[in-house]
Amino acid sequence: MTLRKLTILPTGTEVLLPAGSPLTEVEYETPQRLIPFGCRSGACGACVVEVLEGLGALGEPDDDELDFLEDLGRTGGNYRLACQCRLRGDATVRPATDL
Ligand code: FES
Repeated sequence: MTLRKLTILPTGTEVLLPAGSPLTEVEYETPQRLIPFGCRSGACGACVVEVLEGLGALGEPDDDELDFLEDLGRTGGNYRLACQCRLRGDATVRPATDL
């Protein structure tokens, strides 16, 4: 099983997940709520993260995600809805609630 590393700022916590895992798996790997997931279906905006490294490792956002991020005013940066991402390579993210 190939593992990929997700680094979550501001704590710098590193979580190892099997390649292709949804980022929602982070909740089961750490005792802290490092990414504030809500609906887990791309509808609430609670899980917005800025991707600091490894944007391509999280797959391509679909049109619905891009439209919603625009509605949230999260454009012009490397923002993603964490609940819509899968970890295909190493990446570093920071929840938008910390920005
Ligand atoms: S948890 Fe609601 S949009 Fe991601």
